[in-house]
Amino acid sequence: MARIESEIGAPKGGLIKWIDDRFPLTKVIKEHATEYYGPKNFNFWYFFGVLGFFVLVIQLVTGIFLTMSYKPSAAEAFASVEYIMRDVEFGWLIRYMHSTGASAFFIVVYLHMYRAMLYGSYKKPRELVWIIGMLIFYVLMAEAFAGYLLPWGQMSYWGAQVIISLFGAIPVIGDTLVEYIRGDYSISDITLNRFFALHVIALPLVLIALVFVHIVALHKVGSGNPDGNEIKDHKGPDGVPLDGVAFHPYDTSKDLVAIIVFLIFFCAVVFFAPEMGGYFLEYANFDPANIRVTPEHIQPAWYFTPYYAMLRAVPDKLLGAMTMAAGVVLPLFLPWLDRSRVKSIRYRGWLYKLALAIFTISFLVLAWLGTQPATGIFVMMARVFTILYFGFFLLMPYYTVIDKTKPVPERVVWHG
Ligand code: HEM
Repeated sequence: MARIESEIGAPKGGLIKWIDDRFPLTKVIKEHATEYYGPKNFNFWYFFGVLGFFVLVIQLVTGIFLTMSYKPSAAEAFASVEYIMRDVEFGWLIRYMHSTGASAFFIVVYLHMYRAMLYGSYKKPRELVWIIGMLIFYVLMAEAFAGYLLPWGQMSYWGAQVIISLFGAIPVIGDTLVEYIRGDYSISDITLNRFFALHVIALPLVLIALVFVHIVALHKVGSGNPDGNEIKDHKGPDGVPLDGVAFHPYDTSKDLVAIIVFLIFFCAVVFFAPEMGGYFLEYANFDPANIRVTPEHIQPAWYFTPYYAMLRAVPDKLLGAMTMAAGVVLPLFLPWLDRSRVKSIRYRGWLYKLALAIFTISFLVLAWLGTQPATGIFVMMARVFTILYFGFFLLMPYYTVIDKTKPVPERVVWHG
């Protein structure tokens, strides 16, 4: 009997053993969950990675259902979204989950990035985790930008018009490049089609691949913690970090609580305030795209407004576009700009704390300025806060060296 079983490949030690003989299932679960050790002093700020993952799943699932009823053509797109909202069973719910999910994605990712600035998570040995994270951020921006055109509303059309035309400021190749991106002499059905292809398949694929390598890179070096020391430096005789707890079941059960709390806020927005006062769904986008009528104020979705304010702070179009691009690219270099000996804000001196406070205020004020008209006092303020934003990054190699830091404890400080 045993001989026959092994000949036909039937399981000897159950299904798991059968799979393990053919695929490293148990090995992967052990390495990345039950025997992956995170620090025991994770705090609130460390929830946003898993929440990012959760929102990604929401977007993928709701996106697939939206695609079933959406029509990617200039003639039908707007009406097909209305059809989803009114006639498709639970179409309104799926659409509001997707539109709220877009904003939730940026809230979660911005907080996730901010955690890295609080605790120096981008510093050695996690530079690559940070760089992959920044690439995720750029792809996310492209994904949101492409998705924004799809409802073919007034702001979809004119927002894309403003941003795509920025490429026209590039000397020599500018005009050709703009035409190449649009695929036409103006934003048209062709543009909508290619943005649809990018939004629905190309960019999500890249995003999923990047999130995968983000985690692979993180698990290679191990998770950081709010004290900025390394739990791997102190292991017990069994090789387990003394200050570590198994990711599963300990962190996963805490993450579940974070997901439930997140869902309370998420559902509150989806069911009671899906437009969020025009920030999550802009009112101008309830009118179909009209190439003959320019909206009074053109502004991008809220998550782009800090960079939009930088763009408008500079009078020259090319220099403005370059400033905006620099504002987006600069954080990529944080691992090398930050020369401090300590990682965590807990052990940094007042200089870094002050710099981070100025950065935080600048970013928030710029976000607000991006929603205001580019006139008078608003432009002046945008200039001041753009300079402060850049100062945070460009002066970092100096103030992080002279900042008076405190000694970092050898082991994690546990406030359990
Ligand atoms: C879809 C977007 C993203 C997902 C799903 C994601 C997921 C995760 C997860 C699950 C972790 C481990 C848990 C945690 O530390 O919160 C993590 C860690 C980390 N992420 Fe992300 N991430 C995303 C975007 C980003 C971005 C945009 C950045 C920065 C530019 C970034 C930088 C980091 C860093 C530096 C760590 C290591 C933190 C440490 O161990 O101290 N991530 N990410």
